[in-house]
Amino acid sequence: MPAFLGFSVLAAIMWIICLLFVPIVAGSSNTSLLNSILSHVDEEASACGKYYNYACGKYNVRHIDDSFYDPIHMLDTQMNQKLVKRMEELQENSQSPGFNESSVEAKVLRFYRACSEVPRNMSSLVEYLKLAPPGEGLTWPQLTPNGSSWPQKPFNWLETLANLHRVGLTNVLLSIDIVSNPQNVSEFRFDIGKPSFGEESQRLNSFVETLALLYIMKVPSSDIVPLARKIRKLELSVKVLTEDFNYIESGLISIQQLEAKTGINLQAFFEIILGHRITPEYQVLAQNFRYFSALKELMDKQEDAQVVASYIMMRFGMYLLEETTDGKEPIECIANIRRNMNLAASWIYKERFLEPSTFKTYNQEIKDLFEQLRREFFLQVEHNRLELTPSQKRFVAGKAADIMLNIGNLPKTDDLANFVSRHYVNLELSSGVLDYHREHLKLLQFRSQKITEQIQKLTNREEYFDLPEPNRAISSTSYYVVRQNLIILPLGLLQEPFFLPESDLVFKYSLMGFTLAHQLMNALDTEGIKIDRNGNDRKFNSQRYDEVVMCLYRQGNRNIDERIADNAGLKLTYSAYSKNARNRNQLDFTHLPAEKIFFLNLGQFFCGNSDVNVEYEDDQVRLQQVLDGFEPFEKAFGCSRNHQHESCQMF
Ligand SMILES: *[C@@H]1O[C@H](CO)[C@@H](O)[C@H](O)[C@H]1NC(C)=O
Ligand SMILES: *[C@@H]1O[C@H](CO)[C@@H](O)[C@H](O)[C@H]1NC(C)=O
Ligand SMILES: *[C@@H]1O[C@H](CO)[C@@H](O)[C@H](O)[C@H]1NC(C)=O
Ligand SMILES: *[C@@H]1O[C@H](CO)[C@@H](O)[C@H](O)[C@H]1NC(C)=O
Ligand SMILES: *[C@@H]1O[C@H](CO)[C@@H](O)[C@H](O)[C@H]1NC(C)=O
Repeated sequence: MPAFLGFSVLAAIMWIICLLFVPIVAGSSNTSLLNSILSHVDEEASACGKYYNYACGKYNVRHIDDSFYDPIHMLDTQMNQKLVKRMEELQENSQSPGFNESSVEAKVLRFYRACSEVPRNMSSLVEYLKLAPPGEGLTWPQLTPNGSSWPQKPFNWLETLANLHRVGLTNVLLSIDIVSNPQNVSEFRFDIGKPSFGEESQRLNSFVETLALLYIMKVPSSDIVPLARKIRKLELSVKVLTEDFNYIESGLISIQQLEAKTGINLQAFFEIILGHRITPEYQVLAQNFRYFSALKELMDKQEDAQVVASYIMMRFGMYLLEETTDGKEPIECIANIRRNMNLAASWIYKERFLEPSTFKTYNQEIKDLFEQLRREFFLQVEHNRLELTPSQKRFVAGKAADIMLNIGNLPKTDDLANFVSRHYVNLELSSGVLDYHREHLKLLQFRSQKITEQIQKLTNREEYFDLPEPNRAISSTSYYVVRQNLIILPLGLLQEPFFLPESDLVFKYSLMGFTLAHQLMNALDTEGIKIDRNGNDRKFNSQRYDEVVMCLYRQGNRNIDERIADNAGLKLTYSAYSKNARNRNQLDFTHLPAEKIFFLNLGQFFCGNSDVNVEYEDDQVRLQQVLDGFEPFEKAFGCSRNHQHESCQMF
């Protein structure tokens, strides 16, 4: 009897647990979304003061044990955790005899294993340097074998830059990008220009860091200090050159002409990058020709090639450190895969975690939402607050009408598996002992090669998918591709709580709606307004438009385009929501007014865990700027503010 009793008590407990939890899990997504929102609110703060403190006041406490630091990072963490699970399944499958060793899954698994199993530390930089020398038959100076002097053959800085470009290094001495040709958006071109030094990753850091990096790269101790001085001096001279020639002469130019103007042998340079011969008539986009001639002069003047080589090596080392995660944690290795094999990661995720019918529902729901926003925008254009001319109105509306969505950043094809498999067909990872550095360099090379290969292909917007730069690849942030007039929504956004197809409109418009509206408005920000629906440059002169831009400047905004998109996006999604939810006075899952929920959910997109996220202050400011002076917001929370500042509303 006792055993039976024990069993039945257990059964009763299980039953009660089911009763308690099942209704919450199934069928009350509105309530659980709302509860999650309310759990971040600090009721003791005032919504009319610093709104962040009210809407996000409890975000830190609520997520004290979580590893993510903001809502998007949470989605990425969820996505990465799912992919870890998928890797474990693949690992299991790979033991069975039927496992296809040349499949994309096998390649992903191989890199995942190399990442998570091979020990490595800062000294690994030298491993990379050995695998990626400055040129054929050359080594980096400090790695010269005993008894021989450096260089064994003449070192050529341009050749070295081209070789390293093949594994993704750019913006050292000169910058090389692959961009849409502004005169013909169906093709990509090289764009060669002077380097920028604006970001930390674009220049040497402090003297101490330079010393440390030279040390890690095994430069003999006695050479480190003098060498550090010399390479910093070299960088400074280059930086001064870039500041000198600030006017832009830009456009398509043949290699032959470019060589004549600059005195630099660029044909050989591009041939190394492309891996094949080109004719002197080959056309690239170029700017600041005089910078190049000055650079050549500077390089010719350098007496010690070792200094030039070491400078390039330092920047290469910095690039590798940025590309590499010391972390061998499964979740970090997934991020590493998303960074380097983005398409494969998206495909594997979709196959495993998004049923076709679910994916279809998401697509339909998001497209419907976008259509509502677009319709609302057409009404705004008709209303014509900017007093645009009829032809300007047609342009603005036409551009909005033409925007396409790519949900998941996937190519459009009936056979995605086959497409992905062809995409990776030339990626050959080795089969023997796991070697992280070798595989990683191969992937860096593969990634660059794919970007370069775009030059050989014609692009078609219908089939376009983006090869995202690394930091974008690991984040589910949406973005607008200006030359393609296309919005990319990464797959990570198709997760709870960001978007639930079966949830109430108030949730959908305030988060996904705001995101889409923001991107839609990016099509018409100060950059977008100068590019037509086909991606070609055009002029746009509107006094009222310029006034709004000046108004934003006067308010001390740094990033005008983001401000335009935020302000106009908020107005757009709020208006669209109000119209679509018009006939319902009261939500049936709560007594709270819908408006409050709308602005809470929207506001919490900007929440961040200030303990770990250094950028949260920017987000606080941004949130305040979005909502300040927006009447429906002030009405919802009963704020009466004195409207001292001007409203810089675009549309
Ligand atoms: C293994 O995968 C490759 C690449 O996806 C594919 O081409 C090949 O047909 C597959 N082989 C088998 C036996 O399925
Ligand atoms: C770093 O890793 C290498 C092997 O890759 C090992 O030989 C070396 O001892 C490690 N160094 C430190 C400081 O752990
Ligand atoms: C190079 O010389 C150092 C001492 O100067 C010695 O320790 C090392 O083993 C030598 N390396 C080779 C590859 O001969
Ligand atoms: C754009 O470039 C492609 C490929 O180079 C070419 O076929 C096409 O005619 C060009 N279109 C225009 C409008 O020049
Ligand atoms: C959430 O609310 C919407 C509309 O208010 C309703 O259609 C939907 O069924 C609700 N979802 C759930 C899971 O209850």
